[in-house]
Amino acid sequence: MGQYTEEIERRRTFAIISHPDAGKTTLTEKLLLFGGAIHVAGAVKSNKIKKTATSDWMEIEKQRGISVATSVMAFDYAGHKINILDTPGHQDFAEDTFRTLTAVDSVIIVIDVAKGVEAQTRKLMEVCRMRKTPVIVFVNKMDRDGKDPFDLLDEIEEELHIKVRPLSWPIDMGQRFRGVYNIYEQKLNLYTPSKQYVTENVEFKDINSPELENYIDPAQAEKLRMDLELVEGVYPEFDVNTYLSGDIAPVFFGSALNNFGVKELLDCFIQIAPSPRPVQAIERVVDPNEDTFSGFVFKIHANMDPNHRSCIAFVKICSGKFERNVNYKHVRFGKMMRFSSPTAFMAQKKEVVDEAYAGDIVGLPDTGNFKIGDTLTSGEDLHFKGLPSFSPEMFKYIENADPMKAKQLNKGIEQLMDEGVAQLFINQFNGRKIIGTVGQLQFEVIQYRLLHEYGAQCRWEPISLYKACWIESDNAAMLENFKKRKAQYMAVDKEGRNVYLADSNYVLMMAQQDFPDIKFHFTSEF
Ligand code: G4P
Repeated sequence: MGQYTEEIERRRTFAIISHPDAGKTTLTEKLLLFGGAIHVAGAVKSNKIKKTATSDWMEIEKQRGISVATSVMAFDYAGHKINILDTPGHQDFAEDTFRTLTAVDSVIIVIDVAKGVEAQTRKLMEVCRMRKTPVIVFVNKMDRDGKDPFDLLDEIEEELHIKVRPLSWPIDMGQRFRGVYNIYEQKLNLYTPSKQYVTENVEFKDINSPELENYIDPAQAEKLRMDLELVEGVYPEFDVNTYLSGDIAPVFFGSALNNFGVKELLDCFIQIAPSPRPVQAIERVVDPNEDTFSGFVFKIHANMDPNHRSCIAFVKICSGKFERNVNYKHVRFGKMMRFSSPTAFMAQKKEVVDEAYAGDIVGLPDTGNFKIGDTLTSGEDLHFKGLPSFSPEMFKYIENADPMKAKQLNKGIEQLMDEGVAQLFINQFNGRKIIGTVGQLQFEVIQYRLLHEYGAQCRWEPISLYKACWIESDNAAMLENFKKRKAQYMAVDKEGRNVYLADSNYVLMMAQQDFPDIKFHFTSEF
């Protein structure tokens, strides 16, 4: 027990992830309503990027700018402090989401009952699996017709590679949706369309009692009994530890729009979801309950206004207590710094805070001192692991279009990469710089920002690449041989690590076959 343990253990820091349109924003908003953090529906516009504007990245940046305020939404509920970390909806900013996932202790995945598991959810779940992040699944839009729940659960298990355990069960769906049986609380939650809230919430321990027919029609009652029998037969008993170890995902059904099933989700969430978990630093494991402060920068949000080139560095507090105007060590610089206006994010407001605890996020105004992954501590030299870069999906050579501004260009590229806008690889064969991104928009963002913030002009030239793989091997001779054979495709990343740029899936497969002692990694952390 540390002196702040009580504060820290009541914290629940998590992210809601979904494929765009599954209902993340709607669910977030309903959770905020329960927390009393907002009072009217429609108050959260969040990070939602309007579909019509997908090609207009300035518009998206503007919305991202607005979304700084909603980057973290904190509220109190039933004695707990809840921190919801928002993630960008647009897939071109998936890298932002990956990094946000390094700062949460658990995740809620929203799945649209009609659409099932979609591409982006699959990708984000990979990150959760890698980190063993506990996840809860919320199947949304039960007021619409969708997939059979058993089929959907099979799909989730198969596509997301995680075992599931339903903790509520729907009574029909679409027009005939009658509600859910809450297995976790043994309650019948009845749904009336056209009403905004759960109409009835009935304690119902014995589902075989004929009283069930007083609430729902006989055919639905019979089906529910059969379904529940099957559920108990097919799925293992719910065990909170397998959830906490990331091996099983409890599933809830509901309709965020109708505020149905949301409170049940939240009530279960605060009971089972983890409080801040120990974090692995290179030097040692850091326990959140330690009295000394430590934290790391997981996201940097730049102000797009060229006249105010300032950023906010988002710090996840890993241990102890953070205080305003106290000196902390910026480990990479080895120097002490203090912060006079750290901000916290209460619901929709950003305000200066005097203190924050492990599990919380503070925003530090920054003028270029931080890069992603930087550690702040009370004095100890710690380096937190767990901020991997993922292989980008798009690559372009970046060239200087204004020879007089080479210095500005290099500085701009370096700073934008530190901010995590994209990844830089330097080809060892021809010395050219390659920028890798997860989406086309980032190239436009980089070009615009280089010009407006650094006065530098760049030009993109095509390069056809499939993936960037970080390589390593215990077999030094084979590694050397590989580097020689693939000289044209060898690059180094920002940290100087060896990266192989494979130009097709086939070539990559052949390389893996021909060089069995070399490990090919698709993330920078292995
Ligand atoms: P996202 O953040 O995951 O992208 O999704 P968002 O919450 O914005 O929801 C996407 C659309 O799905 C919205 O409709 C929203 O109203 C709707 N929706 C969310 N939950 C439910 C639900 O439980 N049932 C039904 N039927 N619809 C739901 P939209 O028309 O795209 O947006 P809007 O104009 O209503 O804002």
